[in-house]
Amino acid sequence: MSNEPIKLAAQHVDLWFGKKQVLKNINITFPKNIVTALIGPSGCGKSTLLRCFNRMHDLSPDAHIEGKFLLDEQDIYNQKISATEVRRRIGMVFQKANTFPKSIYENINYGLKINDVPKADRPGIVEQALKESYLWDEVKDNLDMPATRLSGGQQQRLCIARTVALRPEVILMDEPCSALDPLSTAKIEELIVELKKDYTILIVTHNMQQAQRIADKTVFMYLGEIIESGNTKSIFTDPQEELTTNYVKGHFG
Ligand SMILES: Nc1ncnc2c1ncn2[C@@H]1O[C@H](COP(=O)(O)OP(=O)(O)OP(=O)(O)O)[C@@H](O)[C@H]1O
Ligand SMILES: [Mg+2]
Repeated sequence: MSNEPIKLAAQHVDLWFGKKQVLKNINITFPKNIVTALIGPSGCGKSTLLRCFNRMHDLSPDAHIEGKFLLDEQDIYNQKISATEVRRRIGMVFQKANTFPKSIYENINYGLKINDVPKADRPGIVEQALKESYLWDEVKDNLDMPATRLSGGQQQRLCIARTVALRPEVILMDEPCSALDPLSTAKIEELIVELKKDYTILIVTHNMQQAQRIADKTVFMYLGEIIESGNTKSIFTDPQEELTTNYVKGHFG
């Protein structure tokens, strides 16, 4: 696993919202085709860190970021690469499924349109993305139905389909299962394990069992800092830091 090339990295990252420092000297690398879980108590900066990789703070005037974010060694905040390109190469799935009030088909097709995918290719890509997200069998006869009529778990898989349709290199997931029942959660977890063959995945989760089921690597954050990172098994069974021990044993958080 340690031989995998580095896909994504943060170097010496500090981030402030106004005067409040929320990320402190973050240094971390994410290997290619590996699932990494980000864990830590509420408010420790997990979402904030994830969002940096998607340039989501670009529109927040009070966010100030220092340090570097690299995708294949390219600085994703460099003027040479647009936020749109960064978001195509680094897709994001949110806690709450954010389907558009349009048809199932259009939810995926829209991203293809704005990314100039030739019209003739779109139906095939939509179908493929739905198959890869294990949603095809459930929706293939109803592609014109409003996406908002799908169940929560189906909508979340549609959001994943929308993301994979653009063939990103990295998928960021911020608590993608927190609003789902155990069966839908199991489906998404299976999907994540399947997707890692082709993608590098970062997932924020509060579910310690989930991290152990699906993540190869785990990163533990506390008050804006990375306290410890390593193989998931070592983080959960043999943590080196007392804070990590307390957190993974459920003593706080
Ligand atoms: N846009 C913003 N403006 C100001 N402060 C913010 C903003 N976004 C996040 N924060 C603050 O940054 C800190 C980290 O928030 P973040 O959402 O990254 O935490 P988290 O680890 O994802 O927590 P949770 O597990 O509850 O989702 C919090 O103190 C939060 O209040
Ligand atoms: Mg969060």
